Amino acid sequence: MSDETYFKELTTKLSQARIFLSGDAKGAMADGIDVDLLVSKIIESHKTAQGAVFIDSDEIKEVVKAIMSEKNPEQIEVVRKPGFSPLAAEFDAEYAINVINPEQTSGNLNDFVDYFKDRLEKMRAILETNRNKVYGFVKTLESTKSFTNGREVVLVGIVTSRIVTKNGNIMVIMEDETGEVKVIFMNGSNPRSKELFEKAGHIANDEVIAVKGKVSNVFIMASEIVWPDIPIKEKKFSEKDTAIAFMSDVHVGSKLFLDKSFSYMLRWLNGSVDKYADLAGKIKYMIIAGDAADGIGVYPNQDRDLAIQDVYAQYKLLFNLLDAVPDYVHVFVLPGNHDAVQRAEPQPPLGADIIGDFKKDNIHIVSNPAYMKLGGFDVLSYHGTSLDSVISAIPNNSYAQPEKAMVELLKRRHLSPIYGGNVVVPSKKDNMVIEKVPDILHMGHIHKNGLTEYHGVDVVNSGTWQGRTDFQIRQGHIPSPCIMPIFEMKAHRFNSINFGEGL
Ligand SMILES: [Fe+2]
Repeated sequence: MSDETYFKELTTKLSQARIFLSGDAKGAMADGIDVDLLVSKIIESHKTAQGAVFIDSDEIKEVVKAIMSEKNPEQIEVVRKPGFSPLAAEFDAEYAINVINPEQTSGNLNDFVDYFKDRLEKMRAILETNRNKVYGFVKTLESTKSFTNGREVVLVGIVTSRIVTKNGNIMVIMEDETGEVKVIFMNGSNPRSKELFEKAGHIANDEVIAVKGKVSNVFIMASEIVWPDIPIKEKKFSEKDTAIAFMSDVHVGSKLFLDKSFSYMLRWLNGSVDKYADLAGKIKYMIIAGDAADGIGVYPNQDRDLAIQDVYAQYKLLFNLLDAVPDYVHVFVLPGNHDAVQRAEPQPPLGADIIGDFKKDNIHIVSNPAYMKLGGFDVLSYHGTSLDSVISAIPNNSYAQPEKAMVELLKRRHLSPIYGGNVVVPSKKDNMVIEKVPDILHMGHIHKNGLTEYHGVDVVNSGTWQGRTDFQIRQGHIPSPCIMPIFEMKAHRFNSINFGEGL
C-alpha cells in the first residue's frame, strides 16, 4: 500500500475511535507494520481516555518502536551444565524416517473416486485379517439386490450417510465400486439390539466398516458391526535406557508462547536443573508434532495475537531454541495447520525457504504425518487436525480427553476418516490409512495432554507450550501447557513433567 493510502486508512480507523492525528504525524509513518496492528496498539494506549484524543508524530514513533522490539525478541541462551554426563550421549542414535510424499492430482471427480477406491481396498485387506470377527464378504454390494430375503451376508463399504429414521432406527448407506446398500440398525428393546444400536451411533461418514446382517427386501437388517481395528500388540522393551520426549503446538511467535517455561525445559535438558536430571540425561529423541511456529494469516486478525509478525523471524527463533538441544538428542519436527507449508494433509516437511541456512545433523524436518522408527520403536506422529471432526461427530469424545479421540482413529485404522473435516491432498492413494500399526501413536493439536493404552499401543497427546487463547476461552477449552510426556524405552514407561510450575 502507498504511504498515502496507509495514512488515509490509519486516519479513518483511528477517527472511528475518536483519535485524531496532528499534522506532523504523517512524517512518522511506519514501515512494514500492519495498519490494523498499529491502530489496535494506539487505541489500547488510550482506552481509558474520555472524549477525543489528539496524537502527534512522537507518539506514533514510540508505538512503532514498541512493535519493532516485539518483532525482534531476545535470543534465549542456554548454559550447558559442566559435569553433566547424560546416559543418552553414550549410545548412537538409531532412527529411520518414512516421509510421506503424496502424488498430487488435479483433484477432479475421477481422482476423488480413485482416492476412496484405494481407501476401500486397503480397509478390505485390513478387515480380512480380522477373520475371527467377519468372514466371507459379499464381493459386491450390487449383488445383494438379487439375494432372497433372510439370507445372511457380510458387507464391506464406505459409509456415505447415517440418519435416524422416523421410526427411530438408524439407517446407514454403505457404498462400494458397484453400488450401495441401506443397512438398518433397529432401536430394539432387548440388550443385544440396544448394544448394537448404541454402536451404530458411533459410525462416522466416509469410514469403511463391515456389517453382518440379513437381507430384508431393499434393506439389510444388521446384527453386527466390525471396525477395521488394530490387533493386540506385544509391548516392546529396549535394552538401552534411553527416552523419547514428546512435544507439540509450541507456537513460537505467538504472544502466548510460554518462552520462559520452554527455555527452562531446555536448561533441564542440558543438565542445569537438579530435579529429574537422570531422566533428562536419558532423552535421545524428541518429536515436535506440528504447530512449531504460530505462522501468519492462519485465522482473521491473527496479527493481534503475534509477538513476532514476520514468519521467517518466528522460525529463526524456533531454530535458535532447537540449537540449544544437545547434539546427541535427535529432534524430529513435523508441520501442523499453523506452520508455513501447504495446509492439505499429508503436509510436506517445512521448505528450504523457511529453514534457511539452519542445518544441524540432529534436527530432522519431517512430514505430517510421519512414521519413524526410533531405537526399535515404531512411532506414528500426526499433528491431529482431524481430531476436531472426530470429537464433534463421534459420541463420548471431548477436548478434555484427546486420547479417546485418538483411539477412535486407531479403531478406524485411519488418521482422517471424516472427509472434509480437514483438508486432504487430492491424490490417487489414501495416505492417511494406518496400514502399519505403530508402538506409539503421538498427536497434538488439541493443546491438552492425554495418555492411554489401546491394544498394547501407547497413545499420547503432548499438549502445548502456548497459554490459553481467546478462542479457547470462548470455546470453553482448557489447555494443559508445558507438560512434556517422556517415554522411557527400557522400562516401557511414561512420565510427564510439568515445566510450567518450575521444578
Ligand atoms: Fe496448535
